[in-house]
Amino acid sequence: MSANSVALAYLVAAVLFILTLKGLSSPVTARRGNLFGMIGMAIAVLTTLSVTHNVAYILLAILIGGNIGWFVARSIQMTAMPELVAAMHSLVGLAAVLIAMSAFNNPVAYGIARAGEALHTSNRIELFIGTFVGAMTFTGSVIAFGKLSGKLGSRPLRFAGQHWLNLLLGVVIIVFGVIFYFVPGWTPFLIMTAIALLLGVLLIMPIGGADMPVVVSMLNSYSGWAAAGIGFTLNNNMLIIAGSLVGSSGAILSYIMCKAMNRAFFSVILGGFGGEAEAAAGDAVQRTYRSGSADDAAFMMGNADSVIIVPGYGLAVARAQHAINEMSKMLTEKGVRVRYGIHPVAGRMPGHMNVLLAEAEVPYEQVVEMDEINSDFADTDVVLVIGANDVVNPAAKTDPASPIYGMPILEAHKARTVLIVKRSMATGYAGLDNDLFYLDKSMMVFGDAKKVIEDISKALQH
Ligand code: TAP
Repeated sequence: MSANSVALAYLVAAVLFILTLKGLSSPVTARRGNLFGMIGMAIAVLTTLSVTHNVAYILLAILIGGNIGWFVARSIQMTAMPELVAAMHSLVGLAAVLIAMSAFNNPVAYGIARAGEALHTSNRIELFIGTFVGAMTFTGSVIAFGKLSGKLGSRPLRFAGQHWLNLLLGVVIIVFGVIFYFVPGWTPFLIMTAIALLLGVLLIMPIGGADMPVVVSMLNSYSGWAAAGIGFTLNNNMLIIAGSLVGSSGAILSYIMCKAMNRAFFSVILGGFGGEAEAAAGDAVQRTYRSGSADDAAFMMGNADSVIIVPGYGLAVARAQHAINEMSKMLTEKGVRVRYGIHPVAGRMPGHMNVLLAEAEVPYEQVVEMDEINSDFADTDVVLVIGANDVVNPAAKTDPASPIYGMPILEAHKARTVLIVKRSMATGYAGLDNDLFYLDKSMMVFGDAKKVIEDISKALQH
């Protein structure tokens, strides 16, 4: 392909990527957005292959990697998606480091230096930044994977002087960057890489609990910037554009999520700066609550004028999305106004609840975002909280000592009656007890979400 054709093909791919992001901003257009993304990526890959030597090696790598990816994507549970995403980010970070190393090892092969010439100074800066961000993304994502999959525990791990140590390491990295700029050699490059790997661990270790969603989208952003840095090194415009799109959209998503959880953006990205109070340990006080059956719940909802369903992570675990849609249809047929209240961080990944409800073909107009529905709870007869916990915990509003204090919640406690479907009195992701469960107007309905909802539907038929 001529240079002009390559530039044109990359431009088309870039436009398709932008349309992808636009499509993904709403569940209605998300499928189309994904399709644009796939076409754009196919164009980008084919164009790159057309100007690459040793295509056979690349095809072999695509075959092996593609098969592994295909197998993992088919077998992964929806609930394990966040750790999969973290694992994928770690690979992007590692790829950035490895590409930078091989480009530094043989710049002539990458077309960034002529035989016998030293690496250009601007290339040194790009290599340095790509490696630094890539190495941090790699180890940070590995730690995030460990925390999200429960292998490392989700609690923040902190020690005295942590932030000073991070600052010191950051300064040392810059010093080695300056040395590398003037005397490009392996020693400053490898020392800097090792410190960046350590910094990735130290930055993510102190973050935990309810802040993990922000960490995942932040690492997503880092992986994009690492790819963009490498794009500069390789003089590949497509990589620069795609990396910058991932980097900036990830940063915007992190910011939106920080706002949704009332967290200071910089305190999270700098490794839990300012921190949060620890969750209270143990169940010191035995509290009383009311529990009832699926029949009781069916009776209350069947006689209500309005019902708001608040889905959470438990809905995903139980795969109860189809059952809940069937139940909603029955209630609607009985003349009950049914809507779903969606919290931005309900579940374990951004948009988790929207994806599940869309899969069950719940009408979009019934799915209402938190800001819009919160003022309606006080006028609602029944709220059905299903597999949700932290996102309806009133302590976020009333208890300044709570680790989730200040995080906006769905104000389910304002409704006339609150039904809570879960398997036990166990805590949610943030490890906190929930005052909502102990209110006089609340009733627990214990059991697996899918089974309980199916039982409610059966009772509604009578
Ligand atoms: P959680 O607070 O984690 O509560 C989920 C509840 O579902 C649990 O209390 C659990 O109680 C119940 N449950 C689990 N399996 C169930 C089943 N099969 N049937 C019925 N109930 C079941 O979830 P949430 O309210 O959706 O809040 C989300 C939390 O996750 C927030 O703290 C958020 O910060 C965090 N987080 C979010 C994300 C994103 S991006 N959305 C990513 C990572 C973490 P039982 O065990 O008693 O059943």
